[in-house]
Amino acid sequence: MRGYVNDINLYYEDKGQRDAVLLVHGFPLNCTIWTPQVRALAPQYRVILPDLRGHGRSDAPPGPYTMDLYADDLAALLDHLQVRRVVLGGLSMGGYIAFAFYRKYAGRVRALILADTRAGADTPEGRERREAGARLAEREGSAAIAAQMLPNLLSPRTRERRQALVARVQSMMARTKPVGIAGAQRGMALRPDSSPLLAGIDVPVLILVGEDDIITPPAEAEQMAAAIPGARLVKVPHAGHISTLENARAVNRALLSFLAGLHRP
Ligand code: MLT
Repeated sequence: MRGYVNDINLYYEDKGQRDAVLLVHGFPLNCTIWTPQVRALAPQYRVILPDLRGHGRSDAPPGPYTMDLYADDLAALLDHLQVRRVVLGGLSMGGYIAFAFYRKYAGRVRALILADTRAGADTPEGRERREAGARLAEREGSAAIAAQMLPNLLSPRTRERRQALVARVQSMMARTKPVGIAGAQRGMALRPDSSPLLAGIDVPVLILVGEDDIITPPAEAEQMAAAIPGARLVKVPHAGHISTLENARAVNRALLSFLAGLHRP
């Protein structure tokens, strides 16, 4: 489906009924990284999956796309869908956006799911790498970024045994428009440190991390879990940075158990 929100056409999927769960993808991917979770959750929950601006089937205006801008897109999408409060999940950049959303719209967040992400901002070197990545995408196209990112994205096991999944992730990245890649890279470089936010988060939090994630490693997830009161941490076996696809069964089990807990008095 498509909605005109915050001055762009945003593509989204909206499946199931009742309590809403909004799941936000990472960079430079699209909403289909959450497809296995829709199958598991939609019988009980309303699952909303946007393609972020610059990604998938959504518009790709010039960036930078700050995490605040993305948060505003999501708030506008929820307004469009007449949804007030959600369980908000984000993977990697989706997690950076979840922090921005919580900062701006805490009252709309029922619980947070932080998957393969981190709270910290970029280092100066990290910001330089992002600018170089933005320029590479603009100069040589998205396939160059896909080739650069692929080796670090998935676990050794996924790379060895699941060629179809590897090809799917590579083509997802290669199909993201260069302007979208550049906009997101420059926006992520501008994001603030969300660590000071962690101690004050007062909604239930589930943290997921692939055991073999080398982009946002388990140590980062442990730090977040230690800083957020009552956070639950689940390490996903045999998964790298895209745990939702690499070990969907374990992720789905963790999500269903966390969501069921929200209903208990
Ligand atoms: C992502 O998966 O969203 C990115 O790897 C995040 C990042 O570049 O920091």
